[in-house]
Formats: sequence, structure tokens, C-alpha cells
Amino acid sequence: MGYCYSFPQLTNYFKSKLGKHSSLCNNEPLQIGLYLTDRCTLSCSWCLRQSPSSDNYGNGFEKKRDDITLERAKEILSFFPKAGHVNFAGFGEPLMVNDLFRINAEFKKRQMRTSIITNGTLLLDRLNEVLQANFKYISISLNSLDAKNYAIICGSSENTFYNVLKGIQLLVERRKSSKPRVHISFVLTRDLFNRTPEIVKLAQELHVDCLDLHNVISHNNYNDYDNVLTTDDKEVAAKISEWKNQKYTVHINWPTLVKKGLEKPVRICKPLWNWLGIDMEGNTAGCHKAMGTDKKYGNIFKEGNNVWNNDFRKNLRKSFVDGCNFLYDCCRTCVVGQP
Ligand SMILES: C[S@@+](CC[C@H](N)C(=O)[O-])C[C@H]1O[C@@H](n2cnc3c(N)ncnc32)[C@H](O)[C@@H]1O
Ligand code: SF4
Ligand code: SF4
Repeated sequence: MGYCYSFPQLTNYFKSKLGKHSSLCNNEPLQIGLYLTDRCTLSCSWCLRQSPSSDNYGNGFEKKRDDITLERAKEILSFFPKAGHVNFAGFGEPLMVNDLFRINAEFKKRQMRTSIITNGTLLLDRLNEVLQANFKYISISLNSLDAKNYAIICGSSENTFYNVLKGIQLLVERRKSSKPRVHISFVLTRDLFNRTPEIVKLAQELHVDCLDLHNVISHNNYNDYDNVLTTDDKEVAAKISEWKNQKYTVHINWPTLVKKGLEKPVRICKPLWNWLGIDMEGNTAGCHKAMGTDKKYGNIFKEGNNVWNNDFRKNLRKSFVDGCNFLYDCCRTCVVGQP
């Protein structure tokens, strides 16, 4: 935690660090994930937006609602004034949102850290605003090593890939005193896995601070391990441990491997005790990774801040505290509860 937090933010932080993990959470969320828009410039093949299995998001997210406004963002955050960090992301592209930088400026006034996860397609257009936003970090989802493949998996033109790369280069070049911290991320499908050394080389050449390599979340069928990196795949396990032993000029967050057929969670899902995702309608996210926002997970305008300890959340937390079963299939293949 930085020194600039308010007293309520600090006490909430320490309450969270010192508290026990039980189904009722006594601290408020430390971080709010703001889902700003349903719109996106891409249509990545693995994204929940494209998944027919999702009631709310399926088939390219046809149910497009109005983007969040400054007024609505202020209203939402008023329910959780002790949060110290707002992350702009969600299942849509935050840099498409008109009010994004006004919202950001508002939260900076309140001694909050802010950060953004973006596909980077609009980075060149909004570079000056990004540079002035004082984000703690910006994470750009690159996901491909070449334009042709990018166009296929992300549903864009090949030119878009070069624009994203140019945006990253200019961001790194023009930022002051290494701020914001720049991450690039890849969803490491089984196909892309063997090209990991090339991904690392690219990250080093771009002089970014951090490379995040994500295992795949199989939104279409959470029991399907085909594209997921598993501990049962000996080649994957051996290569990762070999690569981890080498020295790099970029910090790398390696993907967590998933154990096939895991019966019960081995670790608790920590974000359930410190993070809450909320969309422009006040619907909350089922969880940090797999479940998007939906009124069935609770709505802050209906439940107020009780949404943090509603039955859905208490039951989900309990499944990790008891550790005896997975309440949802998505938890079985999610990296969070793995050994
Ligand atoms: C859902 S996106 C939203 C923000 C923005 N549109 C973007 O793509 O960066 C947030 C992150 O989740 C990653 N992601 C999306 N679907 C995924 C999946 N099925 N498995 C793992 N990561 C995924 C994206 O690559 C991105 O880094
Ligand atoms: S850019 Fe982000 S939100 Fe858009 S389809 Fe890709 S992963 Fe999903
Ligand atoms: S473990 Fe389950 S609840 Fe936690 S992030 Fe993963 S899918 Fe969501």
C-alpha cells in the first residue's frame, strides 16, 4: 500500500490482510473491477463474449448496453468508498469509452490507484490521454506474434496488429520515469505454447516491464482440457521449468498449469475476499476470472453494499473454505484453485 491512502482505506486493507477467510467477509473489497462497456473492437475466439455457453455474453455480445458515464461510475463507487484501487477492464474494450479519462481523473482525486487492461487497438488514438492518466499499470493484451494469426484469432485486419505494436512502442518511449508500468499479455493456447521463447524475445525487444502468460479459460466447455496447459502434459511441464530457469530482462508471470480431473480446490480463490467486479448497470461479476457480470450474482443498486456478502458470494466462498467440492465447473479448470 502507498502512503497516500486515507485512514478508512488503510484500515480496510489491514482488516483484509489480518482477517480469516470465512464465508462472511468483514472487510470491503480492496479493488473494484469496473466493466465499462459491452462494445469491443475485436472478437477474440476464446473470450467469454463469443461463448454460446454464457447467457449474458454469448454470440458476440449482442445485448449491447450504453457505456458507463462519469455520473454512473461515481454512483457505483460510492457504495465502496474504502476500495483503494479501480481497474478498468471487463468484457469489452475500455479505451472505446468516452468518459474513461474523466472517470479516471475523478478516482485519482480520491487517492485511488487506477489501472487498465486493454487490447491496445486504440492506444495510438488515445496515447496522450493514457500518458497523462497516471495509471499504476497498463496491461495490453497482444495475444499473437504475427499479424496474420492476430487477424484470425482476434477478428481484425492485419493492420490492427501493427497499430497495437506501434502503440506499445510509443507508450514505452514517451512515458516518464517508468510510469505507467507496461505489461503485455498472451493467452497461451497449446498451439502458441511452443513459441514461448519468441514471445519472450518480443517482450524484451519492446522493453515492457512485464510479460503475463495466461493459461486458457475454456468458456465453451469448462470440462474440456484440449487447449488448456495441464500438469499432465509432460512436455509442457518440462519446458516451463526449463524456461523458468533462464534469465530475462523482462519480468515474466508464467502460466499456472491445471491438473486434469481435480476433485476439490487446493487453494482458496483469494479475489472472492478482496475484489468485486461491477458493470454499468450495477450488476456484479460472479468472479474474477470466469463468470462475467449478471444480475443473478447481485446488483448494487438493488442490494447496496450487502451485495458483497449476499448468498451467492457467501456460498461460493464457503466452497473454498470447506474445500470439499467445486461449486461451479469453471472453478475446476481455473488456475486459481490449482495445486
Ligand atoms: C476480457 S479482456 C478485457 C479487456 C480488453 N478488451 C482486453 O482484451 O485486454 C481481459 C483479459 O482477459 C483475457 N482473456 C479473455 N478471454 C480469456 C480466456 N478464455 N482465457 C484466458 N484469458 C482470457 C484477455 O486476453 C485479456 O488479457
Ligand atoms: S479484446 Fe478483450 S473483450 Fe474484446 S473480444 Fe478480445 S478479450 Fe474479449
Ligand atoms: S476459482 Fe472459480 S470463482 Fe475463483 S476465479 Fe476461478 S472460476 Fe472464478
